Amino acid sequence: MASKLLATKPLHVIMEEANESGEGSLRRALGPVNLITLGIGAIIGAGIFVLTGQAAATSAGPAIVLSFILSGIICAFAGLCYAEFASLIPIAGSAYTYGYATLGELFAWIIGWDLILEYAFGAATVASGWSGYCVSFLDDLGIHIPPRWIDTPGTQLVFYGGHWAELDSLRQTLATAGINPSTLPHAVASFNLVAFFAIAAATFILIVGIKESANFTSAVVILKVAIVLVFIAVAGMFVFHHLAVASTNWRPFIPANTGKFGEYGISGIARGAAVIFFAYIGFDAVSTAAQEAKNPQRDMPIGIIGSLVICTILYVLVSALITAVVPYTDLNVSAPVAVAIDATGVRWGSLLVKAGAVAGLGSVMLVMLLGQSRVFYSMSRDGLLPAWAGAIHHRFRTPWISSLVVGVAVAAFASLIPIGDLAVLVNIGTLLAFVIVCAGVWILRVRRPDLPRPFKTPLVPLVPILGILTSLAAMLSLPLKTWIRLLIWLVVGLLIYAFYGRKHSKVRNASQ
Ligand code: ALA
Repeated sequence: MASKLLATKPLHVIMEEANESGEGSLRRALGPVNLITLGIGAIIGAGIFVLTGQAAATSAGPAIVLSFILSGIICAFAGLCYAEFASLIPIAGSAYTYGYATLGELFAWIIGWDLILEYAFGAATVASGWSGYCVSFLDDLGIHIPPRWIDTPGTQLVFYGGHWAELDSLRQTLATAGINPSTLPHAVASFNLVAFFAIAAATFILIVGIKESANFTSAVVILKVAIVLVFIAVAGMFVFHHLAVASTNWRPFIPANTGKFGEYGISGIARGAAVIFFAYIGFDAVSTAAQEAKNPQRDMPIGIIGSLVICTILYVLVSALITAVVPYTDLNVSAPVAVAIDATGVRWGSLLVKAGAVAGLGSVMLVMLLGQSRVFYSMSRDGLLPAWAGAIHHRFRTPWISSLVVGVAVAAFASLIPIGDLAVLVNIGTLLAFVIVCAGVWILRVRRPDLPRPFKTPLVPLVPILGILTSLAAMLSLPLKTWIRLLIWLVVGLLIYAFYGRKHSKVRNASQ
């Protein structure tokens, strides 16, 4: 029994699937630049545009830049492991398939189920953040969406500074300004229609075709990176000419801890790193496009590591400049980058940043939804999910039914569940995937040292071990309720496996 649960999928079968071409298979259209842009498209999003300010204001202060470096190091260990797997087993299932090849079917199921937390809930989280930027951008253009359609059911909103905003996030600002919230116009949200439409549109683009979505993503990523670079240039010039302002804002660089874990001081840097970890999620999504890559052996590592390195550099610069330009205490806002560019006196900056965030977060949703439907595609081909989940559209050559099902579910999550609840689940699910991938690289090196590895993770087993330990440490720093939700999610998944996947598994049936 146990040996069947831990049955591994033979590598030669995986390789054959990875090399399939023609009708019924995914189209190989992506080169190295497409893959790097796909990665950046998935990475730069709500994390840098929204969470940086909150984490600086409430956890790390100007030392948020150290949090970014810390989180980047965790991702580097995992990224090197993903790169080895993605070049060795270039298949759409990503961590799910790596788990199948190394740790066995049960782990493969767990990781596939867990990846739903990362991709589907990740897309929903970003859609939720996107709706905030979009509504604010439209407000600036004079287009006002009724408040009941801009947030999750029951959220209290107040009208302040020309925008509807969540009362809870404004309390501190209103208290500082001496404004009694009850004197402001109130509304209660019923449904986040804006987030719902965002996911519906992204799903449509994905169904129409991978090449089209890759082109769309490339265009958006260029715009997004351009806006980040404009911010770096504008804020950099400001700091250069106002060194006194920057040095005042950066002092103290590590604000004294308040006595509570995670509120400034060293523990605040750690808490900040755990929060902005969300900003790095996405480089692993490159690996789910492996079957759509023209030369995956060479280009997968380039896509994964290239996008991670570029984003780390941008994040360190942006976070350092934001806290240099604006006092960290003023950054607990929904659009901190826009606030910072405003502070430099460049008036057109805020509108530009909002436009960039709207486009940029859009591409994050797209890549996450893409990753999710590709994981379902792989699980269905293995018999762990029903055949319709892997059906490829004859003309578009995309897994259209799973894209559609995922799209509907994600649109529902995004419009009904608050962003905070979604985001922490995404973090814990992704970290669990990192742990399994790092362990898998090490195990496969021991079991199959003979395999030709186009890219080798350096210093095995040190790098995988550091990847496992640092990811576990980050998981442990998340709240207990997040762990409980993760466990409930895994139990539901195991029940589905017990009643469906176990009986229909092709690997098991073949071995019997
Ligand atoms: N890294 C992605 C973001 O920050 C998920 O939105």
